Amino acid sequence: MDDYNAFAADYNEFEEEAVTLWRLGYPVVTGLLGNLKGKSVLDYGCGTGIFSRFLESKGARVTGVDVSERMIEVAKNSGKDTIEYHTISSAGIGFLSDETFDFVVSNFVFCTIQTRGEISLILQQIFRVLKKEGIFIFMNSNWDKSNGKEFVSFRLDFCSNLVSGQPVMAVIKSDPPIVLHDFYWPVDDYREMLEGTGFRVRDYREMKAGSDDVSWRDEKDFPPYYVIVAGKFEIASSLRSSQ
Ligand SMILES: C[S@@+](CC[C@H](N)C(=O)[O-])C[C@H]1O[C@@H](n2cnc3c(N)ncnc32)[C@H](O)[C@@H]1O
Repeated sequence: MDDYNAFAADYNEFEEEAVTLWRLGYPVVTGLLGNLKGKSVLDYGCGTGIFSRFLESKGARVTGVDVSERMIEVAKNSGKDTIEYHTISSAGIGFLSDETFDFVVSNFVFCTIQTRGEISLILQQIFRVLKKEGIFIFMNSNWDKSNGKEFVSFRLDFCSNLVSGQPVMAVIKSDPPIVLHDFYWPVDDYREMLEGTGFRVRDYREMKAGSDDVSWRDEKDFPPYYVIVAGKFEIASSLRSSQ
């Protein structure tokens, strides 16, 4: 498992400006959430709070939790006293009441987790703290479509054996580069774990770059990320057939 404590400040500095992330990642998530004014949002695995601050800037009341003390410390020092941050143990959000949040988001967190058991424990807690009509959204790097691809802000090192739980490596193009040792889980595995918890998958999104002012690398032909939207009690809708 990566030591996020070791590179928290470098991660924060680079990702706050990372073009691929801000054009094709975070705005897709907020677009799916809609109007955030006055909504309560839990950012599970908030890291240094980059996305938490974005949510707050859109009027949400945000709570961020993460297992890395240093990531949370950087988040707390990033000048948004209105966001509540907590260092937790994995799935350790028992201190949050049942059915508290309109939305839960979790970006690039499940891909850092080695076992289905641990992912399921976290999903159970997220399910518990979501309001009845609440929405849970999470984003990951898109290994299925972009294995070995090079983007402006990061790359996915080619993996010849993409099977459930396989260790994979993503490299953030900061200076020095940050190497992330992640685990590949297929979208179908996530769907199974979500549905095993009681969630229903409602939507699946991914985005490629269009023609604009950015000198894109592989972003025009391959989607860097995907986003899964799950609801508590809504009727299941199947993932897009393009998946
Ligand atoms: C790649 S970072 C993403 C941070 C943030 N979500 C973002 O978009 O910048 C992954 C984060 O997940 C956190 N993390 C890993 N395992 C976790 C777990 N079991 N529970 C909560 N956070 C976890 C790490 O400490 C790290 O801050």
